[in-house]
This record gives sequence, structure tokens and C-alpha cells, in this order.
Amino acid sequence: MRVEFQIFRQLPPEPPRWQSFWLETSPGATILDCLNQIKWEQDGSLAFRKNCRNTICGSCAMRINGRAALACGRHVGEELDPRSPQPQPIRIGPLGNLPVLRDLVVDMQPFWNDLSRVDPFVSTAGRRIPEREFLQLPAEREHLNAAGGCILCGACYSDCNAKEVNPEFVGPHALARANRLVQDSRDSQREQRLQALDSLAGVWGCTRCWNCNSVCPMGVAPLDQITELKQGILSRPVDKTAALPTDRSPSHAVRAIRTESLPIAIRHRKTLVQLVRSGGWIDERRFALQVVGRDPKGLLSLVPLGLRLLARGKFPFRFQPSAGAATVRRLIDTVRQKGRDPL
Ligand code: FES
Repeated sequence: MRVEFQIFRQLPPEPPRWQSFWLETSPGATILDCLNQIKWEQDGSLAFRKNCRNTICGSCAMRINGRAALACGRHVGEELDPRSPQPQPIRIGPLGNLPVLRDLVVDMQPFWNDLSRVDPFVSTAGRRIPEREFLQLPAEREHLNAAGGCILCGACYSDCNAKEVNPEFVGPHALARANRLVQDSRDSQREQRLQALDSLAGVWGCTRCWNCNSVCPMGVAPLDQITELKQGILSRPVDKTAALPTDRSPSHAVRAIRTESLPIAIRHRKTLVQLVRSGGWIDERRFALQVVGRDPKGLLSLVPLGLRLLARGKFPFRFQPSAGAATVRRLIDTVRQKGRDPL
């Protein structure tokens, strides 16, 4: 079969362009086989990375038809749309969210820099060194299998929407690795790791778009790892020693710490779930007040929006619960009983 490959060519500072190559190939050939054939037979200047040719090393990650994937793991037949009346070209470009060095080769340095931000090695500091080795139960080790399978190919990083709009976000690869360490019974830095990730640059920067899970070629499911980290952060014991007002009961004070000291991203999620659980959908007045209107500054920030809503006759004076509120409540409670998100 004759197939057209459109390949993104770029040698900065030259402007990028798409270049077409036609190949005689078969549905079972991998995209990497085709790139090799193009390079060896048609244009030796085409640049791309490869190594193992067997979905082990992660070198050949690139965007194939708009999605990050391993070129040695995708086949021509999978990339052609059988429903299309006209044969469609297969488009190949470099990974996203990383600067291009040449053609399909990107500079991975930002990826490694972000990984190093989570201190990606098991820490045994402060632990008593056993005589021979750190012991771990088979079940404890098994829990690490998914995150431990990461080959650091960069596919999740490339297609991460959060990384695209928030350069400070550490990225799904780093968070998956961080959870691998947080869940590791040998690591002694669990609390410090969770504390460091409790921010918009950490777990709360994730938009939960699911792209990372969808493109990961190794089944690491970074979004699931991030969710586990969030659960770890939210289930940490409250610091009861933190400056409690003496004229209040401890239970009141603990509740106050729980809500007042929560970062806004957590408060946003908690409030959203609470309101949806009580009314079936969001009561926008209470939502705004509870998320940002808890202090004079936050309250003031709501005034312009409130005035605009009033002027346009859109201010929600009354809240009508959803007809399906009871069903929504049952759903949320069922999810909670199973020990999963939502908060
Ligand atoms: Fe190693 Fe593709 S060449 S994963």
C-alpha cells in the first residue's frame, strides 16, 4: 500500500513547514520503520530519536496524528482511518510543550528539570539502616507497579493542557514519580513530599483533562497517580497545635483550621462537591462567597462581578435545587463510600 507521510520539518531559526513523503509500506509496519525507510531511502537529513525499537527506552516519542505516542509502538494500519473515502496522510510532529531542536527532536531539558523538582529518588534519610536491606512486602511493592512502569518518554508531558498554560506546573510525569515515592514504604519523606506538592505548581495545577492517561504508552495512568496524591494531601491529620483560640472548643477550632487554612484550590473543590451534594447543582452565590469571599479582600473582589450581574438582571437572588438532587447526593455518597474522589 502507498501511504503519504507529512512530517513537520524544522531547523530553528528557519520557520517550520510540513513536508510530504510517499512510501510503499504495509499496515503492520511501525511508524518508526517508516521513518527509518524515509531517512535511509529519501532524505538523510530527517532528524528523530530512536533506540530500542521495542517500546522500552522511550526515545522515539513524538506526535502521530496529533497525539503523543511511541513511533515504535504504533502501526501504520492503526493510524489510517478505514472510514475515510480518500486515503489520509499520517502526520508526524515533535512532542509538545518542549522546544524543538530539529525536526522531530526536542530539547528534553525542561522535562528533566521538572522531574528533579520532586526529588525523584527514594529517600532513606533518618531511617535506621537495617543490617542487610530495606524489607518490603510483596503487596507494598505491587502497589508501585503502575507508576514504576514509567519509561520517561515525555508523552504525558507533551499533551498536558495544564503544562501548556501554566509553565510552573511540574507536569504529570513528575507527579506520577512523586506518588511512586510517597507510596513507597521505604521512603522517609512522605510528609515533606505531600506538603511540597500541595500547590498550584503541584497537584492542584492539574486540570484533570485525562490526556496524560490517554496517551501514556505504559499504563502509568498519571492522572490516577495525581488523584492518589490529592487524597494523601487531604487526608493528612490536622495540626491541632496550630494557634487555637482559647475561648473555643477544640472541635470548633479544628474545623476552623480545616476550612480557613485550606489553599484556595482545595477550598474550591470541597465547596463545589458540598454544594452539588446539597442542591444537585451549584448555588453560585454561596460558591463565590465560600471560595473567595471569606475575608474582606476576597469579598471586595466580588463586588464588580456582583454589580455587573445586577446591572444585566442576572444576579441569582434565589436558588432552585435541581430536580435530581437526591440522585446526585446518592451518587456522591456511593463514590465516597468506595473511598474514592470526590472529596
Ligand atoms: Fe525505544 Fe521506541 S525506540 S521506545
